[in-house]
Amino acid sequence: MEGSLSWCSLVVLALMVMAFVNAPLGAGARAFFVFGDSLVDNGNNDFLVTTARADSPPYGIDYPTHRPTGRFSNGLNIPDLISEHMGMESPLPYLNPLLKGDKLLNGANFASAGIGILNDTGVQFLNIIRIWKQIEYLEQYQARLADIIGPDQARQVVNEGMVLISLGGNDFVNNYYLVPFSARSRQYSLPDYVRYVVSEYRNILSKMYDVGARKVLVMGTGPMGCVPAELAQHSRAGECSIELQRASDLFNPQLNDMLKSLNDEKGDQVFVAANTMKMHMDFISDPQAYGFVTSKVACCGQGPYNGLGLCTPMSNLCPNRDIYAFWDPFHPSERANRIIVQQMIGGAQSYMSPMNLSTILAMDSKF
Ligand SMILES: *[C@@H]1O[C@H](CO)[C@@H](O)[C@H](O)[C@H]1NC(C)=O
Ligand SMILES: *[C@@H]1O[C@H](CO)[C@@H](O)[C@H](O)[C@H]1NC(C)=O
Repeated sequence: MEGSLSWCSLVVLALMVMAFVNAPLGAGARAFFVFGDSLVDNGNNDFLVTTARADSPPYGIDYPTHRPTGRFSNGLNIPDLISEHMGMESPLPYLNPLLKGDKLLNGANFASAGIGILNDTGVQFLNIIRIWKQIEYLEQYQARLADIIGPDQARQVVNEGMVLISLGGNDFVNNYYLVPFSARSRQYSLPDYVRYVVSEYRNILSKMYDVGARKVLVMGTGPMGCVPAELAQHSRAGECSIELQRASDLFNPQLNDMLKSLNDEKGDQVFVAANTMKMHMDFISDPQAYGFVTSKVACCGQGPYNGLGLCTPMSNLCPNRDIYAFWDPFHPSERANRIIVQQMIGGAQSYMSPMNLSTILAMDSKF
C-alpha cells in the first residue's frame, strides 16, 4: 500500500516537473501580466494598508465563491474574462503568497486600485502600488522565475506574455477633479494636463518595453462623466458630466496617437489600443439593446443613481446584477465586462487597433 502510494506520488511528481519544464514552450501556453488600477486589480490591495479595497460583501456576490476577492465587481473582472477566453486560470495577485512555483508560469496581476499615470494620483488612498513599482515587480517576477527555469526561459515568458494595462481614469477622477481647485487643476488647464499625462504614459510604456513586454493591450478611459458617481454629483436629468466627458474626449485620441507613434518607434505592433470609451458607449447609449434596465443607476450604492459613497453591506443592492451596466458607482458589472471583453476579442478596428485579441491569438498559433 505504502509502496504503491509513493510510486503514485513519484509519477505525479514526474508529470508535474515535465509540465513545468515544457509549459513555457508549449503551444498556446502564454503568461498573462496585468497592470493598472481598480478596473483590473484582482486583490493586491487586500494585502496593503489602504482604503481602496473591495474586501467586504456584497463585492464578489456572483463570484464562484460568492465572497469578496478584492475585485471591484460583483463577479469576474476584465482580465478574468480574457483569461477565460484564453483557456487559462486568472493569474494571481502579485502580493498573494500563493503566487510561487509553477503558478508563476501563468503570469501575475500587479494592478492596484486607486493608482494612476502620475505618482501623485491616489495619494489619499495611502499605501497602493504605483505604476513604476508595478513595473519593478515585473522585473522582480522575472528574477524569481529565472531561479526556477533559468534566465533565458524566464525572459522568453515575459517576451511572449500578453500584457493588459488600465490607467488614466484616476488621474482625472482622483486627482485633477478630486476637489475643486485641486493642485493639478491650478497648475494646468485641462488640455495641458492631458498632454502632460499622456507624455508620462509614454515613458511608462517605453519602460515596459525595455523590461521585455512585447504585446500590450492598452485600455483607454471609459466615459468618465457617465458613471453613476458623476451623475450623482453633477447630473440633473441623467446627462453625463460635461467636464469629465471633455477629459475623456481629450485623453483617448491622444493616447491612440501616442501608441501609434510608439509602435512606429519600435518598428512593431507592440501596443494595441482598446477603445474602452466606445465599448462602454454602446451600452450606455442604448442599455436595453444589451439587456440592461439601466446604465445610470449602480446596482450597489446609495443616494441618487446609487452613486454616492462606497458599495458596502449597508448599501442598496439590486437583486439581479445581470441587468445593471454598473455594479458600483464607478465599476461595470460582470455582464458589462463581458460585453467589453467580447469587443476586445472580436471587435473591428474602431474597437481594437491595430488588431483584436483573436488576431493576436491566431498569430501565436502559427509559431
Ligand atoms: C514617478 O516615480 C518614479 C519612481 O519613483 C520615478 O522614476 C519617476 O521619475 C516619477 N515620475 C515623475 C513625473 O516624477
Ligand atoms: C477581429 O476578430 C474577428 C474574429 O473574431 C475577425 O473576423 C475580424 O476580422 C477581426 N477584426 C480586425 C479588425 O482585426
